[in-house]
Amino acid sequence: MSIKEIYNTMEYGPAPESNKESVAFLDQHKRKFQLFINGKWTKPSSGEYFESISPSTTEKLAQVAEANDKDVDDAVKAAKKALKPWVELGGHGRARYLYAIARQIQKHSRNFAVLESMDNGKPIRETRDIDIPLVARHFYHHAGWAQLMDTEMKDYKEIGVIGQIIPWNFPMLMLAWKIAPALAMGNTVVLKPAEFTSLTALLFADICKQVGLPDGVVNIITGHGNTGAALVNHPDVSKIAFTGSTEVGKIIRRATAGTGKKISLELGGKSPFIVFEDADLDSVVEGIVDAIWFNQGQVCCAGSRLLVQESVAEKLYKKIRARMETLRVGNSLDKSIDIGAIVAPVQLKTIQELVQQGKDEGNTCWQPSWECPKEGCYYPPTLFTGVSPSSIIAQEEIFGPVLVAMTFRSHGEAVKLANNTRYGLASSIWTENINLALDIAPQIKAGTVWINCSNVFDAASGFGGYRESGYGREGGKEGLYEYVKHRAESEFKNEAPKLKTHEPNNKKENKSLPSIDRTPKLFIGGKQARPDGGNSIPIKDTYGNYISEVPKSSRKDIRNAVEAAHACTTWAGMTGHAKAQVLYYIAENLSVRAEEFAARIVQMTNVSASEAEKEVQTSIERVYTYAAWADKYDGQVHHTTQRNVTLAMPEKVGIIGIVCPDESHLLGFISTVIPAIAMGNCIVVVPSETGPLSATDFYQILETSDVPGGCINIVTGSKDELTKEMAKHDDIDGLWYFGTAQGSKDVELLSAENLKRTWVNYGKYRNWFDRIQGEGSEFLRHATEIKNIWVPYGA
Ligand code: NAI
Ligand code: MG
Repeated sequence: MSIKEIYNTMEYGPAPESNKESVAFLDQHKRKFQLFINGKWTKPSSGEYFESISPSTTEKLAQVAEANDKDVDDAVKAAKKALKPWVELGGHGRARYLYAIARQIQKHSRNFAVLESMDNGKPIRETRDIDIPLVARHFYHHAGWAQLMDTEMKDYKEIGVIGQIIPWNFPMLMLAWKIAPALAMGNTVVLKPAEFTSLTALLFADICKQVGLPDGVVNIITGHGNTGAALVNHPDVSKIAFTGSTEVGKIIRRATAGTGKKISLELGGKSPFIVFEDADLDSVVEGIVDAIWFNQGQVCCAGSRLLVQESVAEKLYKKIRARMETLRVGNSLDKSIDIGAIVAPVQLKTIQELVQQGKDEGNTCWQPSWECPKEGCYYPPTLFTGVSPSSIIAQEEIFGPVLVAMTFRSHGEAVKLANNTRYGLASSIWTENINLALDIAPQIKAGTVWINCSNVFDAASGFGGYRESGYGREGGKEGLYEYVKHRAESEFKNEAPKLKTHEPNNKKENKSLPSIDRTPKLFIGGKQARPDGGNSIPIKDTYGNYISEVPKSSRKDIRNAVEAAHACTTWAGMTGHAKAQVLYYIAENLSVRAEEFAARIVQMTNVSASEAEKEVQTSIERVYTYAAWADKYDGQVHHTTQRNVTLAMPEKVGIIGIVCPDESHLLGFISTVIPAIAMGNCIVVVPSETGPLSATDFYQILETSDVPGGCINIVTGSKDELTKEMAKHDDIDGLWYFGTAQGSKDVELLSAENLKRTWVNYGKYRNWFDRIQGEGSEFLRHATEIKNIWVPYGA
């Protein structure tokens, strides 16, 4: 090409990044990688290997070992053996290792960036400037948390051996997000990279050796879904951290149900990108490039649904199309490309099929005039406009460079459209009006809200989803809780605490109590209600004497209660200060009727009068605790490395189902219900099955304490049956269960469908009278989800 021609076309020439070092690394392992178990390269016991290819060129890069159950077992054993010394090393010792890893990654950052780009197909510009710097940042940040664990997380300890399963879209970054916090908090890990992209994890294994990380602290096992499943099912793994498809997330929830394994799931998304008419449209266009063409759109939090105010829609579409025309697709190692290759042919096929379905549905599809390279796995940037919200391409995660646009007129409509998805991972809001942005941010159901930016991440800020995008957070202080357990957990008992009961001759005293002539009903939507089925069940005291009957509720009553909870919008809208006053009012009314509630406890459980009085007084105190917290459970402001701060706001979960413990009828009810409502949730509560009368008496307190109708709905009956109905109910966002091991399993199993947040006791008893076990921030954490709102700051 002559210089004149070059000036005329202004075409870029190729600017290839050298891959010399990465090739040397592959050759050094003879292009055949073993498993990294107990600090050693170990041959897979199956003797099987699979290939990792470069999607840009279809070149075979290396063979990678396929780990089977035996290898997984060896890796878990190694991690288990390494656990004790790793814990005993202490926070400072672990901080030194994490710091060393961070430094070592920085020193070899180009090799990591190039290898990642080769193996995954993503542009070198991105791996070099985004992925790998963030990886180092994550290890530095968590070296700090290791150092601070003893003081900042003193009520918590490590969980044990953690199984970590990661996807292919950000291979090294996801490794860092998982390994750094796990090691910092004293756990050891077995990590399985995605089958398409194992190579940087294997390079990381080399780094672990270089810094002298003790053997077995980090084990890397490669393989496919079966290898992941073996890790999930291994009995000595105490927690699974997973990032990947919603489908596999649900499989993992079901597989671990009832085992007591903790899980965190970071799953798919269909995140809204909301543009208001006063937004700076040129910035918006660049924001869209970051949102959907970053990493070929293979991003769980990709801004894949463009919602644009109708008045500026055509103008914006025109600008987007012009920008799309200038995007460059090509070899991932070319420094001047914008979009690399799709990770694998199977993923390319999914994208092609979904785009075809979008066209068949009659949506308008636009692609740039240029063509993608023929060799390799490429897909052009694509824009759909005039898309109906129910269209498959508006609902399904495409996981490719495909943007789906629709319009709105009012702010309210924008919010409705944004939330019209089963996911809730991220969102971004574009407007020059900060009032509008901060009005919309709390209304979006998503774990991350970016204001006038998109796809920015930092170790200091938590990341994770609402709804079917999964649960748990990665990054920020909120992310640490995924890798620790409360020290009080080891105090939980296999049997209910014994309370002082009457001498048998006190039975008479029980009978001589004034009979409380009431017919307990259900309490739904602020009103006493009869059960739909028209059935009742008898309630007896511990000697088997008949006391009363309570309604036997059915599925329909649960549905009514959930609807009532939905309809109660006033409670969540109240300030913490206002909620606190209602809670104090509850305490006040309970204290006025303390004797009556104590008598009821004596009547039902035959405990001594002083025990009953203690239970009532502790209940009143507990209400005070949460009245205190109602206006104090603050979020944090995280300082990121970008020109943003993130507001980490604890938000209500939504509707929480609560199944109360059978023991401590009143105190168990109060200890679970009150923290949930203190954080703004509305609840459906099933009180103790054997002793529901303290709860049914309690609605009279609620009626006189300014608690809005629908905030607390009380449904009596069979604990097992009602628990299952709640676990299956798609409009319940969270479920707390205190009962048997089997019941706990049912909850975890049946809740997988809508991935509701669950909190169960696996049949263990806590002492509700004890303040460490019976109240505190653990309850508040389960009652909230953290939303991180990225606000431009100091820009
Ligand atoms: P995937 O969920 O199957 O793979 C993620 C990881 O899970 C891989 O390491 C895989 O080996 C492992 N895995 C697969 N089956 C497993 C099982 N039964 N038990 C334990 N581990 C298992 O995702 P895949 O098939 O690669 O992609 C399919 C779709 O998932 C994509 O089109 C995209 O929509 C979504 N996805 C979402 C990601 C995210 O970041 N949220 C990442 C990757 C995929
Ligand atoms: Mg590959």
